[in-house]
Amino acid sequence: MCGIVGYIGNSDVVDILTNGLNTLKYRGYDSAGVALFDENKIKIYKAVGKLENLKAKLETVKSEIKNPSMGIGHIRWATHGKANEVNAHPHTSTSSDIVVVHNGIIENFKELREELTKKGCVFKSETDTEVVAHLVSEEYKTIGNLKDAVKKALVQLRGAYALCIMSINEPEHIVCARKNAPLIIGIGEGENVIASDIPAIISLTSNIIYLNDEEVAVVKKDSVSIEKFSGESVPLKIVKIAIETDAISKMGYKHYMLKEIHEQPSIVRNLLNGRIVDINSPIELPEIKMSKDVLQNISKIQIIACGTSLHAGQIGKYLIEDFAGVSAEVESASEYIYRKNTTDKNSLVIAISQSGETADTITAVKQAKEKGAYILVITNRPDSNITRYADSVLNVNAGIEVSVAATKSYTAQLLTLYLFAIYLAEVKGVDVSNFLEIKRELLSIPTKMEEVLTTEGDIEKKAEKLSGFKNVVYIGRGVNLSTAMEGALKLKEISYINANAYPAGELKHGPIALLDENMPVVSVLIPGHISYDKTISNCEEAKARNAKLITVTSSNDEKLNNLFDVIIRIPEVSNVLSPILAVIPFQLLAYYISNFLGKDVDQPRNLAKSVTVE
Ligand code: F6R
Repeated sequence: MCGIVGYIGNSDVVDILTNGLNTLKYRGYDSAGVALFDENKIKIYKAVGKLENLKAKLETVKSEIKNPSMGIGHIRWATHGKANEVNAHPHTSTSSDIVVVHNGIIENFKELREELTKKGCVFKSETDTEVVAHLVSEEYKTIGNLKDAVKKALVQLRGAYALCIMSINEPEHIVCARKNAPLIIGIGEGENVIASDIPAIISLTSNIIYLNDEEVAVVKKDSVSIEKFSGESVPLKIVKIAIETDAISKMGYKHYMLKEIHEQPSIVRNLLNGRIVDINSPIELPEIKMSKDVLQNISKIQIIACGTSLHAGQIGKYLIEDFAGVSAEVESASEYIYRKNTTDKNSLVIAISQSGETADTITAVKQAKEKGAYILVITNRPDSNITRYADSVLNVNAGIEVSVAATKSYTAQLLTLYLFAIYLAEVKGVDVSNFLEIKRELLSIPTKMEEVLTTEGDIEKKAEKLSGFKNVVYIGRGVNLSTAMEGALKLKEISYINANAYPAGELKHGPIALLDENMPVVSVLIPGHISYDKTISNCEEAKARNAKLITVTSSNDEKLNNLFDVIIRIPEVSNVLSPILAVIPFQLLAYYISNFLGKDVDQPRNLAKSVTVE
């Protein structure tokens, strides 16, 4: 949600800001803006909607922009006030001496706004951010120094923020700061760049500094200095990052989502590499720092996540209970944080988050940590905010995921959970030989994923047929209930078709009332488990109500041809490992339906990749 870029140096400031914002679009946004320090003035340009609208505007005012020495830019995902030009960032103080871009939420903005209004500040927007510009400007009047004025202002704020701030009186630097929202500084030669995330920086430099909470940085063209809000200076810790230029290119695919779906076999193959070296040996997860003695005695695990990561967590619960016999609860982070939960110092809390920035999941982890729980974070961004609270981190290594709809991070999370569940079982003394077959089969999963992807053309044709429906019901049982839920989530997110998932056995307890020829039922059928026959019976019940039936199945049973209107076949796979294969047709189905309907596949309306507000 929201993305920030700041730049100071001799290159084309407008180009760098707009290109940087372009790489952050995946975070989700509905307006964009830049502030340029040019000819001793601060010039601000904003536009509602796509970044292209801002670029078009900048093109029309080209002659006004001379030679900016620095600038700050922002894409906004509306939280306080509508997505319009007035509410778009950057925001300024009453006299426009201070200009600010912000990611996060200022919780006490109403009180501050009242106080500042009493002092004579004139507010232009409905945003929480604008208070920061006024507050810094007020402090500047007495302090006369931007960095110190920023520090004085920030300690008055409650909430989360990453900020870039310029002062008309200080043309040599941008001041930036953060608390509970990501911000990095890219160190170039004779130029420096600030951003919410790595993609906005990698075309300029691979040397970065991760700003920490409650730190303020003064970023000049050829130097950076950082200090804590308390005044203590912070030594610069420059990290060299591996440049993932492929991650932010579509590599010839029409959309990032399709590219990311296709990356799944190689991601899973890489994850298995070195983890299962010999199926007769126990799985090693050296990243788990919890001592094996403590882990052996663990009796309860709590899994916390949101959205797609929550679906992975539900499968994680199933695996942990099935393989290790340890009781596991799974809960949406947004529910966990507002109830009296039973987490204590004996709990192992597993937080799953692709981005590592999801506010609800971070709050949940902080709460659990305060109660003394051991925190294991499973994330695709080991450098993210959430890992600060982790005792152990498992990196799912899926590479930067640009499409808002999560795909490759999900299967990477699943694979990580398979490994963790087996690891836990083995640590707890379950005989290694119990897992020989599962490990052998896990090693074949990447090839089977490739096989599923070869049926893409067929799935595309089937998707076209399904794109006319307004409502779809997904059903699943056992380990594949979450596959059904994930399939439904993918479809609604990117095609806006109303898709709801139910445990197949629940159909007749209510949802069956919805069924008729306009409401297809999509199921997952994996033979070799009791759930297969039971789910077929539920499909028969739906057929009797005239519902069209679609199934994703590993069965070759010809009889299914009479029952189902659409069959998508996946390779033979055991029930317990099937979710990692069965989800791929659902991803492709959602993708091709959305594409066929002409929707914005990679950036669906109203959604943000990083949900940094609770
Ligand atoms: C769905 C999707 C969201 C995220 C959710 C959690 O395609 O992307 O439902 O899964 O917002 O995000 P993370 O995993 O980054 O915590």
